[in-house]
Amino acid sequence: MNHMESAAGYVRDRCVTGIHGLDEILRGGIPYGSTVLAAGSCGCGKTTLGLEFLVRGAENGEACAHFTATEPSVKLLDNVRQYDFFDMQMVDKGLINVFDMDVLYSWLGLTKATFDLGDIHALIKAITDIVNTIGVTRLVIDSVTTLCYKIQSEQLIRDFLFTLGKKLSTLGCTTLLISEITSEKSGVNMWSSFGVEEAISDGIIVLGDVERMGHLLRFLQVVKMRGTSHSRAKYAVELTSIGVMLTPMLKWGSSS
Ligand SMILES: Nc1ncnc2c1ncn2[C@@H]1O[C@H](COP(=O)(O)OP(=O)(O)OP(=O)(O)O)[C@@H](O)[C@H]1O
Ligand SMILES: [Mg+2]
Repeated sequence: MNHMESAAGYVRDRCVTGIHGLDEILRGGIPYGSTVLAAGSCGCGKTTLGLEFLVRGAENGEACAHFTATEPSVKLLDNVRQYDFFDMQMVDKGLINVFDMDVLYSWLGLTKATFDLGDIHALIKAITDIVNTIGVTRLVIDSVTTLCYKIQSEQLIRDFLFTLGKKLSTLGCTTLLISEITSEKSGVNMWSSFGVEEAISDGIIVLGDVERMGHLLRFLQVVKMRGTSHSRAKYAVELTSIGVMLTPMLKWGSSS
């Protein structure tokens, strides 16, 4: 772990996300080894945030992994390669490793519609083996909601996420779990589909839409982040070719 003092005066035991504005919100970054839920309604920028998180790590020479359950990896890469912030060479060089969850299930022989405890342990082992073998320090699972649809009981989902998070943390891997929520839920303090993901996670970042003067704007808000103080204000999100841009929504109150 790196405890260096950064130029901005933060103590750096952090995974500096590199996303414009987010490290300031988090007073230096995500504490290393955290499992963070990135929850949002459809189209609000979850996948882009996750991919940029990996890109910024890869730029520093970190090994990164993305597990995709909502769209095939080929389609994911085809969509993102048009943006300047994404460099396909990072994939070619093995710095960003993209895995299809469906392919992983087939490798493991997990062909059943629902997973039991044994299947869940096999899945955790497969993910953590990949992380360990490649030396992954940044991981995105897009989405944990789709993955958890295969796990029928709340208790099993809880065990799965708790065990996975603990193992990834031990391996020094900082993880974003993408969570799909409906826009109604983002207004009633519910950041997951199953109601257990948020309690297990070290941090919650919410993405959503807010109407302002007749325009639907995207926003980001850090609801919790264990191990650091942080702003709880809403920030306006712009998805641009050079990446996610966060700016304070000053008229909604203080940015700190
Ligand atoms: N870098 C970018 N610059 C401009 N527009 C973008 C960028 N990235 C994504 N978009 C646009 O924003 C939309 C939403 O982005 P993204 O796919 O990241 O959201 P999401 O929350 O993952 O959506 P879904 O609910 O479909 O998974 C995309 O469909 C695309 O049109
Ligand atoms: Mg997405």
